Amino acid sequence: MRLSERETRLRELMDDPACDPVRLRRTLERFALVNRAVSCWGAVYRARLRPLLRRLDRPARLLDIGCGGGDVVRRLVRLARSDGFGVEALGIDPDPRALEVARAAKTMPGVSYEQARSRALVERGERFDLVISNHLLHHLDDGSLEQLIADSEALATGLCLHSDIARSDGAYALFSVAVPPIAPGSFLLVDGLRSIRRSYAPAELRARLPPDWRVERPGRFRLLAVNRRR
Ligand SMILES: C[S@@+](CC[C@H](N)C(=O)[O-])C[C@H]1O[C@@H](n2cnc3c(N)ncnc32)[C@H](O)[C@@H]1O
Repeated sequence: MRLSERETRLRELMDDPACDPVRLRRTLERFALVNRAVSCWGAVYRARLRPLLRRLDRPARLLDIGCGGGDVVRRLVRLARSDGFGVEALGIDPDPRALEVARAAKTMPGVSYEQARSRALVERGERFDLVISNHLLHHLDDGSLEQLIADSEALATGLCLHSDIARSDGAYALFSVAVPPIAPGSFLLVDGLRSIRRSYAPAELRARLPPDWRVERPGRFRLLAVNRRR
């Protein structure tokens, strides 16, 4: 398959409000395995979050937009606490079924979840040291991406980090062979491959972001949109 252009007309099965709830739950639960294997948050924590946490003289506030089952936000909190940093975190997602999965996971003190979009948090004047997302950018149309970027700038006082797949033939080929063993009974394989086809190449994402945002490559198959607020 040649992935020379984004396939923005492809819809992911999980984005259908009427999709099978059991398959959706399994998909959200198994994202934890996929995220651990591909998302590079360990490296991003060491390069970006740890230095930010060191500069703060108080517990940090972290926001994960489109948190799904919440495994990424919980992992970042675990990493921060194992380094001795105080951190409180909020995961938001508009889909109540995602929040059910997040809330069913092992409870972590100081980590909460809310059914909301980023706009609602801007409207009530929330502020976070760090605003992140994982695998959200490729779900959004151009207007929603613009809104997400504006909202994350308004919400973050320290750093915004939006992580996603870098579209490539290699990512597609690797996902096709690595994921089938963990995909049965879920949308993981179909949606993962559609996600890759919907995702940005680095220059495409760069062209969609304001000038003070950077696009970094924390891994071969990853993109990280970065904006420092101070
Ligand atoms: C592919 S899932 C990723 C979930 C999680 N971040 C992860 O990496 O496992 C995308 C999530 O984004 C949420 N989402 C979709 N559109 C959104 C929006 N405009 N704002 C916030 N979240 C959104 C969906 O409900 C879904 O839970």
